[in-house]
Amino acid sequence: DAVERGEYRHYMQKEIFEQPRAVADTLEARISPNGVLPNIFGVGGDELLAKVKGLHIIACGTSYHAGLVAKYWIEEYARLPVNVEVASEYRYREAVVPDGTLFVAISQSGETADTLAAMRESRRRGYLGTLAICNVPESSVVREADLKLMTRAGPEIGVASTKAFTTQLAALGLLTLQLAHQRGLDGARYADLTAQLLHMPSMIEKALELEPRIIELSERLIHRQHALFLGRGAQHPVAMEGALKLKEISYIHAEAYAAGELKHGPLALVDEDMPVIAVAPNGPLLDKLKSNLQEVRARGGELLVFADGEASMDGNASRGVILRMDGGGDFIAPAVFTVPMQLLAYHVAVLRGTDVDQPRNLAKSVTVE
Ligand code: G6P
Repeated sequence: DAVERGEYRHYMQKEIFEQPRAVADTLEARISPNGVLPNIFGVGGDELLAKVKGLHIIACGTSYHAGLVAKYWIEEYARLPVNVEVASEYRYREAVVPDGTLFVAISQSGETADTLAAMRESRRRGYLGTLAICNVPESSVVREADLKLMTRAGPEIGVASTKAFTTQLAALGLLTLQLAHQRGLDGARYADLTAQLLHMPSMIEKALELEPRIIELSERLIHRQHALFLGRGAQHPVAMEGALKLKEISYIHAEAYAAGELKHGPLALVDEDMPVIAVAPNGPLLDKLKSNLQEVRARGGELLVFADGEASMDGNASRGVILRMDGGGDFIAPAVFTVPMQLLAYHVAVLRGTDVDQPRNLAKSVTVE
């Protein structure tokens, strides 16, 4: 397998670096500078999507985090209500399904037992239709869905999902644009969002150039027991994904919080032994996030901030580092900011000497309950 890994030390690292290609493939022949092309979700897809009044997104693990990002996007741009839930909960409770709701399953493998069971259960619950966002065309989830949009990440070997996630975001970006356009999103905004999505591969490529800096930063985490990840808005799920990656492969306990919740609990944990990793893209919530970070700093916590190049992070982090990057715009920034989260977890794990591609106790695809 050394051949397949090529120059990379692990599949995970290879897959992180494959993301520009994988995202470009996922967008290929589905979007042009004028917008999303017709019926990319399958025959009759656009007609069905035009009738949608709300969405229930169901998934597990990393795929669930992609769904959470999509909630921010779809509610903001298409003004449709979105619920996102882990499949293991959804399948066993009596969810209310308003008329005109679309069921969306997100799964890399298309064989996750809970996601598949949730989808089968949804048939009984009166949805308008089902859409699968999936990486494996012949999988059960895809076979059983009415509409489908394949991610084209190619085989993902590392148990910790990377390129599957960013390609899911690309696919969900297409879904967001289609829904938003049908519901009369302003033309100039539609053009701007389309341009951002088309730039996702090149912005991810740029984010990958941060690797040498992130290797240096990784040293700061290797002897830690815990870490806290913070983000606001659509970057909250990115913080969740960063924490999940770190837990999965480095075995450091990590938690993610919406930064505004810091004062409602986790601040009690912050001291000089608790590193805080924040994703701080430019935008209206930046000032709020800065004051959250100030609270961390005041308690001696070490800060690692990934900040959008345009965002001014005043006051130097006395104990900490601000790493500047370009998020590529408000829409795609969650996908771009995911990249340093992946690289950080990867390099911390490598330094700690864990089995990066096959972390203990975890499976690539959980096909039994
Ligand atoms: C397992 C994997 C995760 C993945 C999750 C959902 O836990 O280790 O990487 O995110 O399953 O898998 P799916 O194939 O449904 O996306």
